Amino acid sequence: MELNIAVLAGDGIGPEVTKEGVKVLEAIAKKYSHKFNFNEGLIGAVAIDRTGDPFPSQTEHLCNTSDAIFFGAIGDPKYDNDPTAKVRPEQGLLRMRKALGLFANIRPVQAYESLIEKSPLKRERIQGADLVVYRELTGGIYFGEHSRTDDDFEAKDVSTYNRGEIIRISKLAFKAAQKRRKKLTLVDKANVLETSRLWREVVQDLAKEYPNVEVEYMFVDNAAMQMVQWPTKFDVILTENMFGDIISDESSVIAGSLGLLPSASIGGNALFEPIHGSYPEAAGQDIANPMASILSAAMLLDHFDLKQEAELVRSAVETCLENNMVTKDLNETVNYGTAKIGDFVVEIIESDTTETHQSLENFSIGQSTII
Ligand code: IPM
Ligand code: MG
Repeated sequence: MELNIAVLAGDGIGPEVTKEGVKVLEAIAKKYSHKFNFNEGLIGAVAIDRTGDPFPSQTEHLCNTSDAIFFGAIGDPKYDNDPTAKVRPEQGLLRMRKALGLFANIRPVQAYESLIEKSPLKRERIQGADLVVYRELTGGIYFGEHSRTDDDFEAKDVSTYNRGEIIRISKLAFKAAQKRRKKLTLVDKANVLETSRLWREVVQDLAKEYPNVEVEYMFVDNAAMQMVQWPTKFDVILTENMFGDIISDESSVIAGSLGLLPSASIGGNALFEPIHGSYPEAAGQDIANPMASILSAAMLLDHFDLKQEAELVRSAVETCLENNMVTKDLNETVNYGTAKIGDFVVEIIESDTTETHQSLENFSIGQSTII
């Protein structure tokens, strides 16, 4: 398969982790005789610095002429600490989501057996947890009117949803539930918000078309509590933009590290990115965990139905986790740099004969050699 992939590395640790994701995609292309063409574009603070625009038109053009987008992270403290900044890196991300019609953000979370002890949650709570958040990405309060009164006394952010916006993501979430454990939880605040009542109505109607899916409705405050208390009871979580932003970060504690969570945003195009931010404190130090980027690469492969390839990437990451081939966030004492983790994953992929990655007896981590 030939794919044109736009690489938007962005800010902070974005470039470092993205490089590892690309490395892994290149290894997959080589092994399975695909042709992946990577073309880089600017986004975020780095784009503001070079062009004055966080989502320059060249980048938009590049995305529109690519089959997929592989994205890093966005954000820079010089803007975070300046609430008066008129141009902000995050605007680039939001404009890109809107311009490319990326209305569904898919964030899978699972408890990795080898990391269970790393989670602040008790083993018996998280063992076996495996859920996916379907977050609406181009509507709601993120994209409503944002304004202030002239005297700066009052500000407002308006949340709007229409039926069409709710239906299109809900259908994807129902279909995902059908392929998984057939349970869908709509997370909303229907006891207070009109938009949430519309979500509930639409989802209740739609549920009739998916009779084999059990549907549960949960207020977001309650969901925030239940997700860490009984994470295993969730399968597919469907929710609006802002609630999805919050609960998907919360769900990362189930996986043990934010550095492990990948995501896909689909709709008019398809974009793959770690859910973590730009983590500027770690930039350039070779300490960032590239696994979320590498797992995002696996989601990209899945999207193009390259199932075996995606599975191999995931199992290579799991092999690394099981063998303590991890960055500092996952192990303070034995730890490796960002690039080294990418090298490990590539070596496991290259050496894979399906049995090899089951046992690493012959894998000498120090020399990173597979015999
Ligand atoms: C995310 C991020 C973004 C969001 C920020 C960087 C604008 O937190 O992708 O979850 O809020 O959507
Ligand atoms: Mg977020």
